[in-house]
Amino acid sequence: MFAGPVEFLKGVVAMSGLPASDRIEVCFAGRSNVGKSSLINALTGRKAIARASNTPGRTQEINYFTLGENHYLVDLPGYGYANAPLDKVATWQALLKRYLSGRQNLRRAFVLIDARHGIKSVDEEIMTLLDSAAVTFQCVLTKADKIKAAERDKVLAQVRGKLAAHPAAFPELILTSSEKGDGIATLRAVIATLE
Ligand code: GTP
Ligand code: MG
Repeated sequence: MFAGPVEFLKGVVAMSGLPASDRIEVCFAGRSNVGKSSLINALTGRKAIARASNTPGRTQEINYFTLGENHYLVDLPGYGYANAPLDKVATWQALLKRYLSGRQNLRRAFVLIDARHGIKSVDEEIMTLLDSAAVTFQCVLTKADKIKAAERDKVLAQVRGKLAAHPAAFPELILTSSEKGDGIATLRAVIATLE
């Protein structure tokens, strides 16, 4: 059930720092600046539990939040671009990949895609990794408030087309705006169905 208070648990910088796999876990992955931290804030109804920022590369650790008694929500560092020293970026990208391919209680990865831009090659790379790890992933389109209907439909078609090639993709897309609240209840309901 998606219920109960949400608390920040810890920021993890190495696989050895991951908490015990004793809860249902979902994570939020996506390119830098796509809106992962903002989405967690919107989902949990907390304005700033996850740190969001206009600077790509804001989230540099794997941030764990506990939700009620049964869930972990995981805010991941972005991939694709980061305004940080290269060796640091390489370290957290490696951690991200290890996490995504080796977390036993990870029930679903939400892969966030900017509704204006669609799926890029770095997203495909992560999706292929999730295919190999047999982690079900679901695409969440973000920043829906920033596009017009015609443009949105084009991107939706692009995303659907690309997902067809990924065996681990969950077919339903969720269109969201953390700013306006669109799709947030739907996403919450999806998380609530996972066991
Ligand atoms: P990293 O941690 O750097 O990977 O970024 P992130 O994916 O966590 O992005 P974050 O949530 O920090 O948001 C990046 C920027 O996009 C911020 O300036 C947010 O205010 C903005 N943003 C996020 N979601 C939305 C949305 O739904 N609508 C609009 N208009 N802006 C959004
Ligand atoms: Mg972030």
